[in-house]
Amino acid sequence: MASKSKGAQPVRPDDLWERIALLHPDLSARLVVWQAASGRHHMPWQQTRDPYRVWLSEIMLQQTQVTTVLGYYERFLARFPTVVDLAAAPLDDVLTLWAGLGYYSRARNLHRCAQVVAADHGGRFPDTVEALVKLPGVGPSTAAAIASFCFGVRTSIMDGNVKRVLSRVLGWDRDLAVKLHEKQLWDAANHLVPESPADMPAYTQGLMDLGATVCTPRKPSCLLCPWGDWCVARKTGEPERLPVVTRKLKRSERESWPLWLEWDGAVWLRQMPPTGIWAGLWTPPLFDSLEELQQTLKGLAPSIDPQPRVKHVLTHLDWWLNPQRLELEAAPTEALTQMLIKRDPSGRWVQLRLLSELGLPAPFKKMLLG
Ligand code: ADE
Repeated sequence: MASKSKGAQPVRPDDLWERIALLHPDLSARLVVWQAASGRHHMPWQQTRDPYRVWLSEIMLQQTQVTTVLGYYERFLARFPTVVDLAAAPLDDVLTLWAGLGYYSRARNLHRCAQVVAADHGGRFPDTVEALVKLPGVGPSTAAAIASFCFGVRTSIMDGNVKRVLSRVLGWDRDLAVKLHEKQLWDAANHLVPESPADMPAYTQGLMDLGATVCTPRKPSCLLCPWGDWCVARKTGEPERLPVVTRKLKRSERESWPLWLEWDGAVWLRQMPPTGIWAGLWTPPLFDSLEELQQTLKGLAPSIDPQPRVKHVLTHLDWWLNPQRLELEAAPTEALTQMLIKRDPSGRWVQLRLLSELGLPAPFKKMLLG
């Protein structure tokens, strides 16, 4: 840490443990008190210790904001009140209800996980981190969240917010892209948890709340922080320098030409294959180039109408979409229908007013419904 340091030095691996010994247990106690007074309490999954509900919320919250998750969470619970109901549902129903939340592998794992809990655990979620982490789609931090919220297990979560909060308070300036450094921080985190299992839910929620509302990536509100007195990063005057994570996500680009084909209040859609991006969801036929699309339609349809290009951003991928609209004035010819079916045997006409009953990726939902 360079020039602006006001005296406090970041902690080296050797003295991390000394620092933890000094801080604990005041650190956890203060966070528990702060959570009660200043943390978030309005989220529906906080009103329960039912592992099904907590698990559902944690999976939904993995890559999605709280405000977006709220509606989906309620709809899922209304449709699937228990994990056994979810396990018994067809995957297509789950994907349809998930449509718009993105990262569809989460929905498929959600369904598989429900089936494992129903079949192998008698419909009850296991109560240890070791057993929870074996479930499909449940990583170590999600397992820790469920175990601490529902069963008072003394274990720490370690999501992006918590990495930031703990790196800063401990002054941990090792690159967290290195697995060993992340593990060292997680070991430290596991030593900071409260003595009493009864405090674990408030402590875990407190870590999340601190990261989301006070110890933010930019311009953290250090004056409001219950850990401000001890925070090494704050003492350096440059809390934003931590955490250190060098790894850059390798992004790639892809471009497709969706055929937006309408006739008599219906649109032609096909189902994506069961693996890969948007697996199992419904989209217009996608072409890899405009030439390919034109070639395929040659002699089968009148001219097409290019629509504005749209960029759809996924974690590792910018997907450019160039919809080409074709509105038929008369019933599709036999030759056109045959070509469409040959290309995508799953294809079919779907009434626009029934679109919401199918799982459609967000950009196509927007495109077709405006
Ligand atoms: N992100 C992950 N889990 C969360 C929770 N329980 N509350 C709010 N945001 C979260």
